[in-house]
Amino acid sequence: MEPDHGTRPRPPRRGALTRRLLLGGAAAGAGAATLVGADALLRSSRPDAPAPADDPGLNGERTVAFHGPRQAGIETPPQAHAKFLAVDLADDTGAEKVRRLLRLLTDDAAKLTQGQAALADSEPELAFVPARLTVTFGFGPGLVERVAPDAVPSWLRPLPEFATDRLREEWSGGDLLLQICSDDPLTVSHAARMLSKDVRAFGGLRWAQDGFRRAHGSEAPGTTMRNLMGQVDGTVNLEPGSADFEELVWGRRDNPAWLRDGTGMVVRRIAMDLDTWDRLDRPGREEAVGRRLADGAPLTGEHEHDEPDFEALTPLGFPRIAEYAHIRRARSDDPAERVFRRGYNYDVPVAGDAGQDAGLLFVSYQADVERQFVPIQRRLDELDLLNEWISPIGSAVFAVPPGCAEGGFVGETLFER
Ligand code: HEM
Repeated sequence: MEPDHGTRPRPPRRGALTRRLLLGGAAAGAGAATLVGADALLRSSRPDAPAPADDPGLNGERTVAFHGPRQAGIETPPQAHAKFLAVDLADDTGAEKVRRLLRLLTDDAAKLTQGQAALADSEPELAFVPARLTVTFGFGPGLVERVAPDAVPSWLRPLPEFATDRLREEWSGGDLLLQICSDDPLTVSHAARMLSKDVRAFGGLRWAQDGFRRAHGSEAPGTTMRNLMGQVDGTVNLEPGSADFEELVWGRRDNPAWLRDGTGMVVRRIAMDLDTWDRLDRPGREEAVGRRLADGAPLTGEHEHDEPDFEALTPLGFPRIAEYAHIRRARSDDPAERVFRRGYNYDVPVAGDAGQDAGLLFVSYQADVERQFVPIQRRLDELDLLNEWISPIGSAVFAVPPGCAEGGFVGETLFER
């Protein structure tokens, strides 16, 4: 059964701040406006002040269950911030050491996600605001081969080469992936540091990628994200909890038994040339995708979730959604060729004239990468107007093992065969 990955607000800690602390801090640095704010905050944080009936508590106190048959961080509604850490295992890290590493990482991830300090936490206070922190483990071929060489799923290998690829080693591959997501960037940073410390005796960091969506609270929950090209991105997607999701993400197909309740994961760093995209007019941008920028509605519809009409023609007899439009090319007639997308924006300033390295951390989950992701990527590679402005510069494939019960560790099924 699907574990309860719903968020649970913990009771707000009231009265944690004193008047002296608040007013002192405010007076030192600011004027009357801050004082008024501080007083209001004080009123709401007095230990005897009853919580308003509709008080949702602080988002920082919310936790997502770590233990369960499936790992959190996939069906979990996407948090605002993400860090993806890929680790290369040291040459002398054999099966036994991998087991020790996974146990260590599991114990710390379990604690941190519940708002508790990691085992050797040097800054325990940073752990007390989980803000829906999840840590999701992915195994590259290198890790699985070390533990169970005959149990590597056939799709767990680098993707085939695509003509539009401009892949760079520094953003590709990896033996072990840690996907760390939270609504608070300080929490993400702290968790990443604690988990990276665990890894030190077993290997080294291969790459780290940071991603973001809108800040928590900026938009109503459930609003489809926007990417840095300004598009509504994620409208047509598998629905967590649905029968399709069950089959296409968690479905076993031909996967080895240790991957039951696990899935496959693709991480692609796709750079956007935003300077040339800026030169394209609005109708051109909408044609490239086949959807409106204002609300994400298909060019043949009114609302975001309207079904696109791929048969509709313009008065001149051209397809209303062009042959080269991203949504036409990304859609397959075969319902088995679907993936669950859960990506993040990225934006890194680059020294010199290059300006920035910005784009999409495309992340998709699917039970069989070869059967589900590759055909879509192949079609996009052959024809997709978006290719004028985007280039994949990083690529990695991982197997996401099942979750574990309390006392167990993520990846244990690989050792139990
Ligand atoms: C920077 C790269 C990309 C951008 C900016 C982008 C943007 C978009 C946008 C705006 C949509 C329409 C809204 C939606 O339904 O989500 C969309 C749909 C979609 N994209 Fe992408 N995308 C990118 C890369 C990819 C890649 C690499 C794949 C998979 C190989 C992919 C697969 C899809 C799929 C399956 C859909 C839904 C198509 C449908 O309507 O059935 N996209 N994308």
